[in-house]
Amino acid sequence: MSALHYGLQDKAVLITGAAGGIGQALARAFAAQGARLLLLDRADTGLHDLATALGARAAVCDLGDAAQVAAVANGVRERWGTLDVLVNNAGTEFPTPIDDTAPDAMARWAGLLDNNVTSMVRLTQALLPLLPRGASIINQSSIWGRIGVVGFSAYAASKHAVVGLTRSLALELGPRGIRVNAVCPGWVRTAAALRSLSAMALAQGRSEAEVEREILSKQAMPLMLTPEDLAGVFLFLASAGATPLTGQCLVASHGEVMA
Ligand SMILES: NC(=O)c1ccc[n+]([C@@H]2O[C@H](COP(=O)([O-])OP(=O)(O)OC[C@H]3O[C@@H](n4cnc5c(N)ncnc54)[C@H](O)[C@@H]3O)[C@@H](O)[C@H]2O)c1
Repeated sequence: MSALHYGLQDKAVLITGAAGGIGQALARAFAAQGARLLLLDRADTGLHDLATALGARAAVCDLGDAAQVAAVANGVRERWGTLDVLVNNAGTEFPTPIDDTAPDAMARWAGLLDNNVTSMVRLTQALLPLLPRGASIINQSSIWGRIGVVGFSAYAASKHAVVGLTRSLALELGPRGIRVNAVCPGWVRTAAALRSLSAMALAQGRSEAEVEREILSKQAMPLMLTPEDLAGVFLFLASAGATPLTGQCLVASHGEVMA
């Protein structure tokens, strides 16, 4: 991976959700390309250590909070002036079965949508004045932004919304020379994905191993993705090699979803 060069040396790159499983791998991959990095997460855990190890900057910021987002945008303006690549990777995932009628069920459903979609818009809007022609925005969707799934309707709706958002912003920002694409990963072995796998197994009365076998049997290549497997897709979309691509939602799922 790091042997490949994507022409990202000295590019200013902001990655959200950088304390998480996929975000950390993306941070390492962009750092290996010589990019200048700002790593953002609402969780402090490990964020500053990772930033220090990579020679990057870190920002603890809840993307649901407009004032915190404005402060991050101000910081980018003061430090860099412009931003070349925005990786909107932050997101959250938990089951929202439709027959859950607990008093707080609707608030949790709406909260997931707000966190995975509205927060992405909030940050993108705040940083937009700093994005020059040639800039690239990469939004994290999911295969569940392309297909439905039992028990996770809020998450699937949020990731379908990210696809619609990506296509719409590509049209809106194309005249300014800014590309907007999305990545739709399949199952990636992170703590968050394994929590979902456990929840599915529990809901179905099956073992986790059984559910995992079934997931892998639907892929053309029966291996669970690692965060590192995804990094090259993001580097490519950020690079000049992807100049013709905008409004695209690249499925990276070892062949589980092909449309
Ligand atoms: N792991 C998978 O199988 C998989 C598959 C498809 C898509 N995705 C998506 O990839 C992204 C990363 O997933 P992951 O598996 O690394 O999950 P993760 O939970 O390990 O990482 C997500 C990170 O986002 C941060 N975050 C969430 N909401 C935030 C907010 N409002 N403000 C700031 N930070 C916030 C969390 O603190 C966390 O560190 C998510 O958008 C997820 O939906 C994951």
